[in-house]
Amino acid sequence: MSDFFEEADRTLVEGRAPDLEVPREMCVLEGPGEPCVLVIFGASGDLAGRKLLPALWNLYLQGGLPQAFAILGCARTPMTDETFRAYTRELLESAGMLKGSRWEGFSRLLHYRVLDYGDPAAFKTLGSDLDALDREARTAGNRIFYLAVPPGIYAWTAELLGSSGLSGEDSNGVGWSRIVVEKPFGHDLESAEQLDGILHRYFREHQIFRIDHYLAKETVQNILMFRFANAIFEPLWNRRYIDYVAVTAAETLGVEHRADYYEEAGVLRDMFQNHMMQLLTLTAMEPPSIFEAERVRDEKAKVYRALRPFPVDRLDEYLVLGQYGPGVLDGREVPGYREETGVSPDSLTPTFAMMRVFLDNWRWQGVPFYLTSGKRLQAKRTEIAIAFKQVPHSMFRQVLGEHISANRLVLGIHPEERITLTFQTKNPGAKVCLRTVTMDFNYHQNYTGPVLEAYEKVLIDCILGDQMLFWRQDGVELCWSFLTPILHRCETCGNRAERLLRYPAGSWGPDQAHQLGPVLASLGDGH
Ligand code: BG6
Repeated sequence: MSDFFEEADRTLVEGRAPDLEVPREMCVLEGPGEPCVLVIFGASGDLAGRKLLPALWNLYLQGGLPQAFAILGCARTPMTDETFRAYTRELLESAGMLKGSRWEGFSRLLHYRVLDYGDPAAFKTLGSDLDALDREARTAGNRIFYLAVPPGIYAWTAELLGSSGLSGEDSNGVGWSRIVVEKPFGHDLESAEQLDGILHRYFREHQIFRIDHYLAKETVQNILMFRFANAIFEPLWNRRYIDYVAVTAAETLGVEHRADYYEEAGVLRDMFQNHMMQLLTLTAMEPPSIFEAERVRDEKAKVYRALRPFPVDRLDEYLVLGQYGPGVLDGREVPGYREETGVSPDSLTPTFAMMRVFLDNWRWQGVPFYLTSGKRLQAKRTEIAIAFKQVPHSMFRQVLGEHISANRLVLGIHPEERITLTFQTKNPGAKVCLRTVTMDFNYHQNYTGPVLEAYEKVLIDCILGDQMLFWRQDGVELCWSFLTPILHRCETCGNRAERLLRYPAGSWGPDQAHQLGPVLASLGDGH
């Protein structure tokens, strides 16, 4: 660490910019956290296999897990500790992740119990098993219950955990209990309130971790640093200088094998109620007085409260919904949504949406925020584009005409984690010509240390009890209050089928979206 500061001093004295490689131990891990057991419900399922177990393995390799730690996998699938270890080893091997000689140590952390989620007696037995594991692994009675199960059984599992006494916490702070809930948090406002009601019957808010993996993305976390650790952008970050903001999450993936879930959810529930709202909020919120979970989430809640209620009687002026048809993506023919396995041939589920929203507050009055997300679009791109206003007067109009491209700041989240700012310069040469150039910062510039994957970060924060990157109940409900009337209107209106516009897979969505606003502002409005 001291080398780092010495180097910083040296570069300052020598007058070079302190553009240093940051030592990894300063940034990657915040400390191994208290001893605990992580109980994964749904341990034999897709989420555990694709995300959680690989993330835990990586954290183990990086020294990011507590000294005293155990993983208890639970699911209906019959397995023993040994077969669960073999299963985990195989999935790490097939993902090409099993390197080095540390598998044995990690495998000793893995345990397994068969669990029938509908059986209250099984949860009593789980309690005794956890007590035994605490003694064996010295995990001090601290437990994290991760619900990697279908959303339909969240409430039930929480209920059984509570009624078996597993949600209780020791008043002296040893023996804590946390529950981790994946999205979707309900289907609409009413179901979200019901789910919260059940969670709160047994868990207090500080025990509940509602995941949004977008919040754990490095460049999403960086939005607040960019805005509030620099003095030069914030004075411009308002209605006086900004013309519009475009938040885009374009995907090339289709519905994959999730038709059951997606047919019910559609793009508004799947992407807007959570990820898109978080990106909007981080862009629009006021600076909290301190970077601390409750203060940050207070500021986010103010943004949700400022969302102008959607004019549901004039939906077409504010919302475009689409569904992908067959098309060509990366040179390959792909089926339309209605031809996908498990999807109804006359499905009216939207796979694309663009929404124009406004925030009724001093900073943002009158500035449109265009939120766009869709499946089977031409490329996978996630970004936030801030389009600044045109110059108020063009002194170059005799030579260049009235139009000078406005400045644009793009916070790239995927595939490139970068920040770009476009501005005008003179072209070299005798003739007066302007050109648009781009100043470009690659997020990983001068950093060679490891980077935490979203699920690694989420798991560390659950272990540390840090709720900064998780949804708070009021935020979830405020977003549902905004979206539920829109969903209701879209799903019950007489012209539902006509409103759902078809777009070919591999395109940038329905043409009507381009008339409403910029689908991908970084490529220019007219593409
Ligand atoms: C998930 C959605 O939450 O986010 C998926 O359920 C979507 O439908 C995914 O594909 C997108 O995440 P990312 O990190 O790939 O942008």
